[in-house]
Amino acid sequence: MERILVIGANGQIGSELVDALAAKHGAENVIAADIGPRSLYGAKMYEVIDVLNAERLIAIAEQYQITQVYQLAALLSATAEQAPLKAWTLNMDGLLNILELARLRGEVSKPLKVFWPSSIAAFGPNTPSQDTPQFTVMDPSTIYGISKLAGERLCEYYFKKYGIDVRSIRYPGIISYKSPPGGGTTDYAIAIFYAALRGESYPCFLEAETTLPMIYMPDAIRATILLMDAPADKLSIRSSYNVAGLSFNPQELALVIKQNLPGFDIHYVPDSRQAIAASWPQSMDDTIARNDWGWKAEIDLQYLVIDMLRNLKISQPSQIGLTIAA
Ligand SMILES: NC(=O)c1ccc[n+]([C@@H]2O[C@H](COP(=O)([O-])OP(=O)(O)OC[C@H]3O[C@@H](n4cnc5c(N)ncnc54)[C@H](O)[C@@H]3O)[C@@H](O)[C@H]2O)c1
Repeated sequence: MERILVIGANGQIGSELVDALAAKHGAENVIAADIGPRSLYGAKMYEVIDVLNAERLIAIAEQYQITQVYQLAALLSATAEQAPLKAWTLNMDGLLNILELARLRGEVSKPLKVFWPSSIAAFGPNTPSQDTPQFTVMDPSTIYGISKLAGERLCEYYFKKYGIDVRSIRYPGIISYKSPPGGGTTDYAIAIFYAALRGESYPCFLEAETTLPMIYMPDAIRATILLMDAPADKLSIRSSYNVAGLSFNPQELALVIKQNLPGFDIHYVPDSRQAIAASWPQSMDDTIARNDWGWKAEIDLQYLVIDMLRNLKISQPSQIGLTIAA
């Protein structure tokens, strides 16, 4: 039986991952944790935890007899650029605390299995941008990307040196409707839907032809659980796996939205996030993830757009100016 701790559980990914893990392992076996008060649905158990507090992590792991940790707490790309030192401390020390926790638990019981997400931000301007290979030039130019690349090296180090079963995915930009995004460069691909449903022209902070790798949340959650379920001896990558979802630019996304909402309009006011996006890959080669643990994305752009529009109307009516009938 697994006992799972999800740190950063109130965030965009955590809030959906907790539900998926609860459905799979039983809600009584999933402990959601975040630095702030509970803002969650699926979890039966909730703890306020600062991932930078190593002693509290050790106490919680003992209290709940934790066997797996998903470490999702981080400052994302755009937010991190506003506070680079804070981002470095949270992103690096948060991961190190979890890797150390995994190692120390191994001295008293079983070592913990760890999931930690990297990002396409770990690549940089000299990385081949089309079908970016698993192994290639990595010269990230944001503090977020630098922390992700360093984190990947730490994951592999802890695996090789201490045998920690740590697993990781280089997530593309994740699109979802249940909770707001956390300050990333791909957030435009979510904000655009709110504007479309409000009948507003969307002021896009990226240029029209800025293609980026993206993934719809159900595919991202499926990839995460698939990787965590894979037999350890099948995994050839202990830094972080390339995973492809779909790739598109703002203009292409706007076109599909327009097919569903003909009055929709977009205009372009690129800001500092444009330079970040320009340094990232446009599409990913995920052959190794496919071969090692059977990954294959299922969701295309047409489905994503229709599903986002339908679900945002239901789940976020106040955000898009709809009133709910009492
Ligand atoms: N969302 C994406 O598109 C995307 C893409 C690539 C990688 N990732 C990675 O996935 C992870 C989760 O991303 P997200 O989009 O859910 O982020 P998010 O910003 O939505 O959520 C992060 C959560 O961490 C919590 N947190 C912050 N500081 C904490 C601390 N000291 N202790 C405990 N919790 C703390 C926040 O309260 C928040 O709920 C991050 O590592 C991020 O880099 C996300």
